[in-house]
Amino acid sequence: MFEQVKAIPGDALLALMVAFKNDPNPNKIDLGVGVYKDDTGNTPILKVVKQAESYLLAHELSKGYIGATGSPELAPLLQKLMLGENHPLIGSGRIATAQTPGGTGALRVAGDLINAVKPEAKIWVSDPTWSNHFHVFAGSGVEVRTYPYYDAQRNALAIDQMLACITQMTAGDVILLHASCHNPTGIDPSFSQWQQISKAVAERGVVPLIDCAYQGFGEGLEEDVQGLRLLVEQCPEALITTSCSKNFGLYNERVGALSVITETSEANQKTMSQVANCIRANYSNPPAHGAAIVCTILSDNTLRQQWEAELAEMRDRIRLMRTTLVKHLKEINCSRDFSFIAEQKGMFSYSGLSKEEVLFLREQHGIYAVDTGRINVAGINANNIERLGFAINQAIQL
Ligand code: LMR
Repeated sequence: MFEQVKAIPGDALLALMVAFKNDPNPNKIDLGVGVYKDDTGNTPILKVVKQAESYLLAHELSKGYIGATGSPELAPLLQKLMLGENHPLIGSGRIATAQTPGGTGALRVAGDLINAVKPEAKIWVSDPTWSNHFHVFAGSGVEVRTYPYYDAQRNALAIDQMLACITQMTAGDVILLHASCHNPTGIDPSFSQWQQISKAVAERGVVPLIDCAYQGFGEGLEEDVQGLRLLVEQCPEALITTSCSKNFGLYNERVGALSVITETSEANQKTMSQVANCIRANYSNPPAHGAAIVCTILSDNTLRQQWEAELAEMRDRIRLMRTTLVKHLKEINCSRDFSFIAEQKGMFSYSGLSKEEVLFLREQHGIYAVDTGRINVAGINANNIERLGFAINQAIQL
């Protein structure tokens, strides 16, 4: 069976991670994969996570299966985090949330669900988007199309082209929107642009699939879901995929969720039976530990406050690195204007660096960014910013 198998190229982002790890250069800088790093270049375990784990160690009673849709405590906690404490959808029977292995697991279950209930529906993703969106939905067997998102000339959202494309979508198709901290561009719609987008999506009868992977990493826990809230207010049906990897720093615990919003509670029960079926056929039930950490934190006032403070610390550091990089490049008289980096949101920035410039940074300076020019701003720190500025300044003179 395996003698004739051809090797295929691995995922480019994961390959970049390995290449960085294997580079012996002591001054290497990792601006590749989207993982938060503190000022020492470490990806820390949040203190509040350690506290929740101590509590769990003392109080957890069983390692029994938690069922296909996961922890029942997690669902209302995540719904409140996304929608706000007293949102009318919560408890209405129109929303249900299944815990999944990370945000990627949620996206895959969403793709499988769409394929099971409406196989002719297409999923529209932004151009550009997180490269794995294509792989995940291809795995589900759903057709993927792209809508315009990035205006390279202005380093801004291509709002007019995006809206025009939405009006051409077939009713019943699905549009994937990044709730905040757009991956890879770092360019989010403003509130008034969100109003235009949600109106267009609702009028066209397209179902929003909101990928909420960075709540709290952009402007704040509330601000980062303003578009999501507009969409669920205006559209009778929606899917939301949540990741707790970044905002709880629980990358390797794989905590995520798929929330399904339907027009009626009857439809919700039926749809969740399909969700449970997709999960059972895929990984049977999600892992318990990471979700138990999130539940412990979100259901305790003191721990929740501590989490919000640690999240704000991560967000503020990323914002500081954005403005510091822009300032530093100006100070060294860099001939290209990078001021737009300070305006972008979240961990990622489409830096405008070409593939050639990115390869120069990697080969000559051990600085690892994605070929598209995406940089992870969280990889910048006080120790490496001068080297980075010097290298960028060289790269753009190629
Ligand atoms: C990224 O885009 O770097 C992150 O979402 C991590 C990943 O798995 O690709």
